[in-house]
Amino acid sequence: MQVLCKSLHMENRIALVTGATSGFGEAIVRRFIHEGIKVVGTGRRKERLDQLKAELGDHFVGIVMDVQDKQSVFDAIQQLPSEMSKIDILVNNAGLALGISPAQQSKLEDWERMVSTNINGVLYCTHALLPGMVERNAGHIINIGSIAAEFPYPGGNVYGGTKAFVRQFSLNLRADLLGTAIRVTDIEPGLCGGTEFSAVRFNQDLQKVKSIYEGTDPILPEDIAETVFWTVNLPGRVNVNTISMMPTCQAFGALPISRRK
Ligand SMILES: NC(=O)c1ccc[n+]([C@@H]2O[C@H](COP(=O)([O-])OP(=O)(O)OC[C@H]3O[C@@H](n4cnc5c(N)ncnc54)[C@H](OP(=O)(O)O)[C@@H]3O)[C@@H](O)[C@H]2O)c1
Repeated sequence: MQVLCKSLHMENRIALVTGATSGFGEAIVRRFIHEGIKVVGTGRRKERLDQLKAELGDHFVGIVMDVQDKQSVFDAIQQLPSEMSKIDILVNNAGLALGISPAQQSKLEDWERMVSTNINGVLYCTHALLPGMVERNAGHIINIGSIAAEFPYPGGNVYGGTKAFVRQFSLNLRADLLGTAIRVTDIEPGLCGGTEFSAVRFNQDLQKVKSIYEGTDPILPEDIAETVFWTVNLPGRVNVNTISMMPTCQAFGALPISRRK
């Protein structure tokens, strides 16, 4: 594919986007490539990465990696082709929610998988890439959090907890990186459609997924990609710490009160 480079100053940038095989990650990859950024995209589904490679060409490298597996992350990053090894944009996007049961009815394995993907995955990728960014004094880490980090809801228990970790980790990274040029941004979306997120959450119960989005106008993956690119494209002197974004059709409600019968 011929890359139409809109932003000439993006030409020498190299990004690593986790969860590139679907949803936000795939849209971010496409947006970055469109802007002239070279992208390493990761995920567990090789066939999806191969399809992206066939479509996007030389500016894209797909790497199979399970972010829960420390060795898989470090091996993959070690083995990056030399022309793609100096990553200066890391998008920690791979993540998932599993179930929406009250805590007392949740499966412990679901909790463990959310922690190992949403927290450990972010830690492994960040730990593998941050020293190089600091050495080169260039870099931007964008973490995809969620409004669940800030606003609890019934059944959000561990998912919300993992995204609260992502928010606080992002802010704490900023504290450690003061004096360097490295930027850190946590993007926290609300209801988003056009991804596999709800199908994964509800174990492929597509009726349930349909009922979540019925009559709504949710945020779309390209809206997230636009937001990510906006933060990257701002002058280096600007660090966007946190972005909380919802579709216009979503807002806050009163806190419920349980009353004596
Ligand atoms: N959609 C929403 O409403 C919403 C709202 C707020 C925040 N978010 C957050 O946005 C991020 C992206 O979600 P999405 O909506 O785009 O969901 P999605 O369509 O399900 O995409 C999730 C991506 O993460 C990858 N992934 C999952 N587990 C992985 C693992 N163990 N190792 C490597 N990759 C893994 C998946 O790839 P493979 O299956 O190929 O590995 C997939 O590419 C997540 O962090 C999610 O929590 C979503």
